Amino acid sequence: MSSLSGNAKIAGVIGWPVAHSLSPRLHGYWLRTLAIDGAYIPLPVAPENISDALKALPKLGFAGANVTVPHKEAALAVVDEVSETANRIGAVNTLICKPDGTLFGDNTDAFGFIENLRVGAPAWDPDAGRALVLGAGGAARAVVTALIDAGVMEICLSNRTLARADDVAQYIGGNVAVVPWDARDAAAQGATLLVNTTSLGMAGKAPLEMDIRGLADDAVVTDIVYAPLQTPLLASAQARGLTTVDGLGMLLHQARPGFEAWFGVQPEVTDDLRRYVLEGPG
Ligand code: ATR
Repeated sequence: MSSLSGNAKIAGVIGWPVAHSLSPRLHGYWLRTLAIDGAYIPLPVAPENISDALKALPKLGFAGANVTVPHKEAALAVVDEVSETANRIGAVNTLICKPDGTLFGDNTDAFGFIENLRVGAPAWDPDAGRALVLGAGGAARAVVTALIDAGVMEICLSNRTLARADDVAQYIGGNVAVVPWDARDAAAQGATLLVNTTSLGMAGKAPLEMDIRGLADDAVVTDIVYAPLQTPLLASAQARGLTTVDGLGMLLHQARPGFEAWFGVQPEVTDDLRRYVLEGPG
């Protein structure tokens, strides 16, 4: 742990619980390797205190913070100003304390998703065909927004609870077709991108049941689950010879804009960082 001066810039991650978060480790790696006079700390905040806690950040001299589960939607309502992206996604994951004492809310999950996809699957072409997105939580909203912005013309969204997928499609607008959960295999026929944003496949959860045989031969399969790194879905896609992109990169890339805003240096996502973060959160 490096020592801090009285000028040190301070940021952190607000969640409940927050002990499992890899963000302190991730930002800590960048702070250390870039020799920055700054700190990034876990901030456990109970739901009943979220409004007070967020409003206190500028008063305490914080440079900003990340916001994670379950506070991303609440943060949207508390901040003084919201980025267009955060507004479209309906959630804030990055806060910036402005010099005038106000709080700006942004969402970098869409950026993190598309950067990870571009780095992991450079040959993926947004114009090439249909994308099938599974899930309807906050992550799905970020992924669908990112795909629309990347120029994907046809997006299918499938979720166990159909009404939640309908809500996401309606909230986001654009070319999003909702597909019943039972019809997800049919929707995969000829698709060039499959994204799992559900929690299925996570350690301790059931695997995602998905027939990937219908995907296009040049399809890319990506999972936002990163524990384990190779989910059963990614393993089956790899066995079929498809390009796969694991979920850790989304976490690493979504952190970049916040770090740059708070600490003034553009950080990089490297293999060494991946290895270091994977050894966490201890
Ligand atoms: P987040 O906001 O982090 O994306 P979430 O709201 O907990 O997460 O959503 C988890 C996703 O996994 C949801 O799409 C959920 O489906 P429901 O909307 O029907 O709950 C999906 N999910 C979780 N367990 C599932 C299961 N056993 N089968 C199918 N989908 C499941």
